[in-house]
Amino acid sequence: MTTQQAQKAIQDLTQKINYHNDLYYQKHKTEISDFEFDKLLEQLVALENQFPDLKQPDSPTQRVGGAITKEYQTVYHQYPMLSLGNTYSREELTDFDGRVAKGLDGDAYEYFCELKFDGVSISLIYENGILTKGVTRGDGVRGDDVTANVKTIRNIPLKIIDTNIPKNFEVRGEVFMPKDIFIKLNKEREDIGEEKYANARNTASGTLKMQDSSIVAQRKLDCYAYYLLGKDLDVETHEQGIHKLEKWKFNVSDAYRKCKTLDEVFEYIDYWENRRGELPLETDGVVIKVNSLEQQERLGFTAKSPRWAIAYKYKAESVSTRLNGITYQVGRTGAITPVAELEPVQLSGTTVKRASLHNANEIARLDLRIGDYVFVEKGGEIIPKVTGVDLLKRKGNQKPLAYITHCPECQTLLIRHEGEAAHYCPNVNGCPPQIKGRIEHFIQRKAMDIDSLGEQTIRQLFELGLVKSPADLYFLTKEDLLRLDKVKEKSAQNMLNGIKQSKQAPFESVLFAIGIRYVGKTVAEKLARHFKTIDNLATATYDELLAAPEVGEIIAQSVLEFFKNRENLVEISRLKKAGLNFEAQIKEVVLDSTVLDNKSFVISGVFENYERDELKDIILKNGGKVLSSISGKLDYLLAGENMGPAKREKAEKLGVPIISLNDFNALLAGQKL
Ligand code: IVH
Repeated sequence: MTTQQAQKAIQDLTQKINYHNDLYYQKHKTEISDFEFDKLLEQLVALENQFPDLKQPDSPTQRVGGAITKEYQTVYHQYPMLSLGNTYSREELTDFDGRVAKGLDGDAYEYFCELKFDGVSISLIYENGILTKGVTRGDGVRGDDVTANVKTIRNIPLKIIDTNIPKNFEVRGEVFMPKDIFIKLNKEREDIGEEKYANARNTASGTLKMQDSSIVAQRKLDCYAYYLLGKDLDVETHEQGIHKLEKWKFNVSDAYRKCKTLDEVFEYIDYWENRRGELPLETDGVVIKVNSLEQQERLGFTAKSPRWAIAYKYKAESVSTRLNGITYQVGRTGAITPVAELEPVQLSGTTVKRASLHNANEIARLDLRIGDYVFVEKGGEIIPKVTGVDLLKRKGNQKPLAYITHCPECQTLLIRHEGEAAHYCPNVNGCPPQIKGRIEHFIQRKAMDIDSLGEQTIRQLFELGLVKSPADLYFLTKEDLLRLDKVKEKSAQNMLNGIKQSKQAPFESVLFAIGIRYVGKTVAEKLARHFKTIDNLATATYDELLAAPEVGEIIAQSVLEFFKNRENLVEISRLKKAGLNFEAQIKEVVLDSTVLDNKSFVISGVFENYERDELKDIILKNGGKVLSSISGKLDYLLAGENMGPAKREKAEKLGVPIISLNDFNALLAGQKL
């Protein structure tokens, strides 16, 4: 390779890596597997070694991670958060062992092996036994202060209880979203018509950087601790550090093992290769660490990673199999999901017959044709995915695939909204899976909570023509129910009781149950509280909707559209007739004072000692109003830390006073600003 060619190759690789880094760290998305990404980085390292003069000072190989997100306070790490050297081969692991042996001048040593958890690394700072900071890795030197969010993770102790706790120490770990929580979250998103998240790791990473810690808390993140750092810790080996973490009630995965020889390390690797699927999170390899801390110190670090540890990564197993066809599923909201029907094939211990293809863009990107041999992988995702076509096996006579134009269930012409990847069946009130899905959504626990009915019952009720919309449930008779398979007097009565009981459900549950797109339970609660009755909500203008808490343009638009639809209005009037709650039973606010008499506030940013909801309550209890968007009529913008620049700009432009918490307290005390 000539210098000129190398220069071009380095440029191309740098661009590619930066692109994927940005996608991963800033947008929480991935387009290539870790294996492919690592390969790109490896190629760049090799080229830079071969042509050291061409190495750029800002090369991605110099950096451990991604850029810093602006909204959070930047914190410098006391000990840089380095990455680990990676290998996919046993030979390289043997080389690593050779380097360790040499570095330790022939002294005996042992390894401590752990799984490599595929989550988001976190640094937890404890002072006098109290958790004072949680910081993301960022670029390895400095990260984002996400303490408020970290504190919502139940497995992270807020206070250590022990005698002789070191004054200062740091714990490193991996924050993750357990697989079952991830699947549940995606089901909920699908249920209200939101796009599903791609994988658990990126979702955990996005969640950790959310602004509202109460939403983070609902997401139920978890954390595995794997590294104790600091001075005067009274530990001599990594193993003792791990035991200390266990004693201090950190969540430590028990999948570790001390290994005296490299063969034992290989055994450990083999042992977990096929068992890692049973763990609550994805693991992409094994981390091998020299156990003695004194020996770790002797081995030291390179610029990027410790010489005393290495990660052995499992290759994402990829198999090739025939694409027999594509089927299309219709969801509750009418969204179409294409599914690859595959010739059954063994992959990581399970038989794979189907794989999700997400949407038409994905099929076009892969340029799939029926009869192709496709590569199927189980990577970070739980559902297997098609990663590419084995072009060598393509016969040449297959035609490119034409995406369906009509709904496979009701033959209605499909539509595609601008800016959305999915196709939709617009036949909302006549398409069977949409109708059944809507009723299932309606009866779920968070909605009307009719647990005496289930998916099978709904299916039969629909097939017998007894129920075509949720309101029909309230007009069922015992005779109707006795027509169902295996349903006798007792279970029919049970169902009727459940249906009747559900009439007690509060307005916010009813509002969630009626299935307005993008209105999840939290939004339904806010809407119910804000608008108080369904009639107020149904007649609200776009601007009035925007003024409600949690409501942005997308939700406002969706609510407007819902109430424009005549069939929805008929359904609501039938539900009203059945006796459901369409008014919020909110206790009247008893005023503490009227010092804020009709003054309007927008609350923005983060406040040290208050949740935003607490501030809101204080304003309401003192006669004020809380709005969610800034207009010329607004009296005050109450600004905390990290308020977005757009809000500040808008307030300044409109001449709305921007006040601090101190100013706010002065107002409460009756002072003039
Ligand atoms: S030890 C100085 N142990 O892998 C090395 N890291 O590429 C400290 N990781 O940023 C890391 N599981 O997020 C260590 N059992 C484990 C791990 C682990 C996952 C992550 C960690 C780190 C990255 C390194």
